[in-house]
Amino acid sequence: MALKSKDLLGLKELSSGEINLILDTAESMKEVLSRPMRTAPALQGKIVTTLFYEPSTRTKNSFETAAKMLSASSSSIAASTSSAVKGETLIDTVKNLEAIGVNGIIVRHSMAGAPHLIARNISGSVINAGDGFNEHPTQALLDMFTMREKKGPIKGKKVVIVGDILHSRVARSNAWGLLKLGASVTLVGPPTLMPKGIEATGAKVSYNLDEAIKDADFVNVLRIQMERQQKGLFPSLIEYTKLFGITKERLEKARKDVVIMHPGPINRGVEISSDVADSSRSVILEQVTNGVAVRMAVLFLLMGSRGKN
Ligand code: CP
Repeated sequence: MALKSKDLLGLKELSSGEINLILDTAESMKEVLSRPMRTAPALQGKIVTTLFYEPSTRTKNSFETAAKMLSASSSSIAASTSSAVKGETLIDTVKNLEAIGVNGIIVRHSMAGAPHLIARNISGSVINAGDGFNEHPTQALLDMFTMREKKGPIKGKKVVIVGDILHSRVARSNAWGLLKLGASVTLVGPPTLMPKGIEATGAKVSYNLDEAIKDADFVNVLRIQMERQQKGLFPSLIEYTKLFGITKERLEKARKDVVIMHPGPINRGVEISSDVADSSRSVILEQVTNGVAVRMAVLFLLMGSRGKN
């Protein structure tokens, strides 16, 4: 089996078979990373560029590491130091990168659909590293990989995603992916941070975190996007933490084996307390480690010898 598209734009577009193919391939990649010589020659001669129009610590570095582990050459462009500041269009930028010889572009952009636009305009592979509020597919894939590693097959697992669902591309990608693999997904947050009509995805919606976490296998905690709080989407951070923060006290109502996840970056003391984030229930840093294997799998499947580029 292979991926149908030359690009990875979102989990909405993938079949359950394709998602499982990526997760299974990531298992092999994790095994490669555990060897003393952690590199494989699969992408020798290929050039991968990260093109980020928004800040990133984890995703950008993880993709660059994944590319190096597969022996690809990688380069990096920050929008602030590129010719975008001189007025160059996104399409001209990526066509010029392709003219240089780049085989794959990993893009993060504040506009939903920007990776799709790029994908239509170049023949190389495009990987969405986060587009507006739309999707962040590799984050959801590494989340699912970590869930599978912790508790076996995703089918039938109960996953609570809590926080700023409205602005979260991580929530959307997780919902698409988890539902395709047969998990039960409950989205929890204040009504002002819940997108209208989200139930159409098949996810449940709850405004009562204590009720929702009672039988959860996994609680995926989302960052409160501080940059949007001037819009008054909830009364105060203190009230948010009281109603929707994950604390040690709140977890007394949850299962003993509940696994706590967070895509990062964390606002300690707001959506999650430090004692939970740093506890044995938390797999936050394991998610980051798994991100490299998952991104190696994606690069390999799209750009390796049997891939599309
Ligand atoms: N989870 C995530 O996307 O983190 P970065 O913004 O640091 O890439």
